[in-house]
Amino acid sequence: MRLGLFLPSRFCDSLWTRKMYAAITLFVFMCLTATTHADHHQPCHAPNMTGFMSVMSLKGEVKAFGAFTYDSMGKKLRFRSNESHPTNTSLGLDLLMFFDEGIFYEIDSKNQSCEKKTLQCTQHPLDIPDDATFHGEVHTGSLSVEGEGLKVNIWTGSMPDTKGHYSMSVTMGCLPVTVFYFCESTTLLFSNSDIENEIKDPDLLVVPSYCVGQPMEETPEGTVNSFLNEFM
Ligand SMILES: *[C@@H]1O[C@H](CO)[C@@H](O)[C@H](O)[C@H]1NC(C)=O
Ligand SMILES: *[C@@H]1O[C@H](CO)[C@@H](O)[C@H](O)[C@H]1NC(C)=O
Ligand SMILES: *[C@@H]1O[C@H](CO)[C@@H](O)[C@H](O)[C@H]1NC(C)=O
Ligand SMILES: *[C@@H]1O[C@H](CO)[C@@H](O)[C@H](O)[C@H]1NC(C)=O
Repeated sequence: MRLGLFLPSRFCDSLWTRKMYAAITLFVFMCLTATTHADHHQPCHAPNMTGFMSVMSLKGEVKAFGAFTYDSMGKKLRFRSNESHPTNTSLGLDLLMFFDEGIFYEIDSKNQSCEKKTLQCTQHPLDIPDDATFHGEVHTGSLSVEGEGLKVNIWTGSMPDTKGHYSMSVTMGCLPVTVFYFCESTTLLFSNSDIENEIKDPDLLVVPSYCVGQPMEETPEGTVNSFLNEFM
């Protein structure tokens, strides 16, 4: 579809970009076909998960690709960029976020160092905000051919600073498939793949020993720290 025209051709060489292109096309298709129901859906909450996440701007930059681990009860998230998919933005990005506590760590495991910071915004692409609006249900692929279709719910809402909005698609089991953040300066697409419904390595959600006792960094006036902002 038309959005494909925004992708510079040099990006079209990689398999990863082709996957992203497919995700964008899928999403555009979903926007066109979503049937809006005026019923009383409540946002679901994702289960514990392990999987891969990619982040791309609609200018065609691949911002990051890496593995994530998410604890849905404890509201903890680890994301580590994958060095076999290097990008300028995220080389060596390693984040451990505690949304309930409102803190996170930027970890440098090679260097055994870390920075501890406060989160000003706890919204993130693995969970639907409680005040999200149900937009509709979409069947992608085929409904009638077994194994060839995926049914997703679309949820939309505003960003806390009201300068942007988001659109998330999640499976019936509440696994997040794609999330778009439409902001003033950029649009970011987060898309997830190979999700498993469990925490495979719980140690990834534990603060590394070399980060324990780390003092909190000052947040400069006007800075908003959030998972999303790590990719802006
Ligand atoms: C999710 O993971 C946490 C941390 O490992 C665990 O305490 C919790 O029981 C898990 N929840 C489910 C539903 O498995
Ligand atoms: C990096 O990505 C590849 C898939 O492209 C995957 O097989 C590998 O396990 C990933 N490595 C880590 C550390 O996540
Ligand atoms: C990283 O930035 C440099 C200089 O701006 C550019 O030449 C290079 O293509 C970029 N690499 C990636 C993977 O985006
Ligand atoms: C290691 O961490 C220090 C700060 O703690 C930093 O100045 C230095 O650049 C880091 N080195 C590498 C190789 O990342």
